[in-house]
This record gives sequence, C-alpha cells and structure tokens, in this order.
Amino acid sequence: MEASGSKGIVLTGMQPTGTLHLGNFLGAANRWNRMLERYTCYFFIPNQHAITVPQVPAALRAATLNCVAQYIACGLDPKKCSIFIQSHIVGHTELAWVLGSLTPLGQLYRMHQFKDKSAKKEHIYSGLLYYPVLMAADILLYNADYVPTGEDQRQHVELARDLAEKFNTTYSETFTVPVPLIEKVGARIMSLKSPENKMSKSDPDGNATIYITDAPEVIRKKIAAAVTDSGDRICADPERPGIGNLLNIYCAATHMTLEEAEEKFATHSGYAPFKRELADALIALLEPVRGHYAAIKDDKEYLQSVVREGAETVQPIARKTLAKVYRKIGFLEQ
Ligand code: TYM
Repeated sequence: MEASGSKGIVLTGMQPTGTLHLGNFLGAANRWNRMLERYTCYFFIPNQHAITVPQVPAALRAATLNCVAQYIACGLDPKKCSIFIQSHIVGHTELAWVLGSLTPLGQLYRMHQFKDKSAKKEHIYSGLLYYPVLMAADILLYNADYVPTGEDQRQHVELARDLAEKFNTTYSETFTVPVPLIEKVGARIMSLKSPENKMSKSDPDGNATIYITDAPEVIRKKIAAAVTDSGDRICADPERPGIGNLLNIYCAATHMTLEEAEEKFATHSGYAPFKRELADALIALLEPVRGHYAAIKDDKEYLQSVVREGAETVQPIARKTLAKVYRKIGFLEQ
C-alpha cells in the first residue's frame, strides 16, 4: 500500500524505563523532532512493552509521565504531533492478538533482542517473546508509513512488515507496509566504558551512559573517562571501537559525516582535545533539553492534558483499523 494521505504517517516510541540516554536521543528523539513539519507524527509511550520485564508499579507510573516530559523537552511539540500512552488506547493488544495468530513461533525465537534479554534471565515470560508482535500492532494499527528507530529495532520493524504483507495476502489489502527509518550515523551509540555493548539505561556502570539530564560537568567527566585505546588517530576503525564510538557520537551531535569529521581531526594528536570538543558539542545540544525538562517535569496537569489530547486524536483511528480487521477475519459485529 502507498503512503497514506499527502503527508505520510510516522509512528515510534520509547519505553518508560528511566531517563533517556544519549543513544535514545541521538538515535531517536533528536531525529523525530525534525519530522514534525513533514509528517503526521504519532509518538507514544509503550508502557505495555515495559511490563515484559518486572517493574515497580509506582516507579512505572512516574516514569511514564516523566517520559512525556522528556519527549516534549527533546523538541516534540505537542501542538505539532500526538503524544499518547499505549495502555490508554483500545486496539494495541487486541490487534497484537490477531497478528500473533499469523506469527510463526520460530520467527519470535530468532529475534536478537529476545535472545539477548532471555539469555540473562532465569525466568523467561511469554510477554518477552511476544513483545515484537505487540510492536507490530503498534505500527500497523495507525498504518504508519515510517518508523524511525535505532539499529536495534530493525528486526522488529521487519516483523511488522512481514505481518502486514501476510495479513494483506491472507485477507485483502488492509495494512500499509511500514518502512524503517534508520540513519547511518547515531543509530547505534555504544557504551562509553565497554564500546562493544550498546549504550543502555540498565548499565550498572553510571559512567558508561550519558543521560539527557546530565549536567555539563558530568558530561565532561564521563567523556574524559570514556574508553579509547593507546593510539592517537581519530578515525572510524572497527579495530578501535572506543574512539570509533566517540567519533560517531560527535558526528550525530554535529550533523557531520564521518568523512568530514575524520578530515577535521586528521591533524590532531592525542585524544584529549577531541574529547574536549566532543563534550562541548554534547553540552550545547543537551543543555536546552535539560532546561526544558526541568521546567515542565513537575507540571503533572499539563503533561496529563497532553496525553489526554493525544489519546483523543488517535483512539478513533485505532478503533477504525480494529473494526476493519475484525470484519475481515470474520468476527461478528455487536
Ligand atoms: P527503546 O525504548 O529500547 O529505545 C527507544 C529508541 O531509542 C533507540 N536506541 C538507540 N539508538 C542508538 N543507540 C543506542 N544505544 C540506542 N538505544 C536505544 C531505539 O532504537 C529506539 O528507537 N521496542 C522499542 C519501543 C517500541 C516501538 C514500538 C518503537 C514499542 N513499540 C513501535 C517503534 C515503533 C524499544 O524498546 O525502544
């Protein structure tokens, strides 16, 4: 199916499991805010995904509203897009159930993220396995044309494409086949301490991750202590993942290409001046976000009104898709 309407639909979201980090920002939020004018944008908070690993209820509730504040602080102007909470909308889990009936179990067992997450756990719950089907439902429910994410979500978006095509051929043309939007630079930000692992909210080493709420002096300290190597050439070399990761972060923060950045730093000797310049670039980028977040994070009434309005906009769309799907698969109407 072709892009719907004249303005294509963008849908994406981040789990409300703590403060957003530099990977979430450079790989995702800082690109989403550049899509507001061009597309009809739906940004949601996948709290139903969050419970596929244990959560403390009060902390999840607080993190969900904080996530709304962080979206807005990252530049997602609620006047130009819809921001909503997954569990407020009837349709996500219902559609996931339908799509699950078209999903081979083997395909779910092959998901990289399931393999990674389940390998570290003693008890594995079916929600963790089923997670990508719910993600497919999130996307297909709104007939999203584009799904901007970091590299780690590519396989999940591929599943959404497969399921859209399968449903369309099994019944009849119903879903838009979504296109993942994954940029070359910034789509995979790695840990500052072990650059072979991706930067993550759950890293026990606080210095491995930069958060969007980190103060300038904290950013400087973390970048100064970031792992590099004994060389002094600033380039993207797979054999030197530490400096490669920092260069990737620099490029994503300054919108430079790797080639441009390599040329800029070609005459630098030693990593210290580069690290100082990188910290400056990150502080310039994150300070407005930190300030905006501090200004709105405690205004619960405002944040609640944003997600209420978001739900009002998207619920009719979700209901319409669900009704269409139910009709096609043979569910009797009320
Ligand atoms: P989540 O919450 O893990 O991550 C949110 C977004 O941040 C990107 N990201 C990164 N990008 C670059 N480097 C990193 N180290 C890094 N870590 C995270 C992710 O790729 C993502 O874009 N399953 C999704 C949430 C979701 C969703 C959806 C997304 C649920 N339903 C429908 C899009 C469409 C997730 O857990 O993202």
